[in-house]
Amino acid sequence: MFDKIAPQPLFASTIWIHQVKPEIAAPLNENLARHIDRLISPKPPRRPGETWQTEARLHTLPEFQDLMRVFMTASKGVLDKLEIEYGDFEITGCWANVNPKGGAHPVHNHPNNYLSGVYYVRVPPGADAIQFHDPRQQMTMISPRVKNYNAYNSIVASARIRPGQLILFPAWLVHSVEANPNEGIRTSISFNIMFSDYIQRMSYPKWDGIALDKHKQAGV
Ligand SMILES: [Fe+2]
Repeated sequence: MFDKIAPQPLFASTIWIHQVKPEIAAPLNENLARHIDRLISPKPPRRPGETWQTEARLHTLPEFQDLMRVFMTASKGVLDKLEIEYGDFEITGCWANVNPKGGAHPVHNHPNNYLSGVYYVRVPPGADAIQFHDPRQQMTMISPRVKNYNAYNSIVASARIRPGQLILFPAWLVHSVEANPNEGIRTSISFNIMFSDYIQRMSYPKWDGIALDKHKQAGV
């Protein structure tokens, strides 16, 4: 009956998955794991389900600058793909997440930034996913049972993760991480990106009004 059926997702919420080359990721991750373990020692007590997080200023520390170069290069690539007009951007916060067994991250987003990202240092078996949640809240209004979950009927999407992987996503995109079921530690590093000159260069309305100085020129 039909020549062709072509589902066309509209207004996709895109996540950008980067895999750092193994020969770069392996020594990088070894160093990162060592630095992070040092920063969170001695580990403060935590309740079941809680995780350890460092302060959000790893981007200011010299031992994390190799990773910041990876973050900046990947972020610039995404902004270029999005064809955003901007002057400059910067990392506004960067922190490590250390999930022992049972450690999870509840549903959240990263306010007051444009892009966010997470890089994986250590990923134990069975703790290898991050969940992104459909931003269209109205999708929950009528939610019939389905025979199988697929890209067209799901409101949660799971992305597989592995060491050396960097995922960039819109800062508003809500996400979560399920509890680490494994005895091995899961370690990731999160960061946010914002435009440095957002007010000066980007916040002015996108339409042109009547020029104010033409009245002055005409002596009105
Ligand atoms: Fe997050």
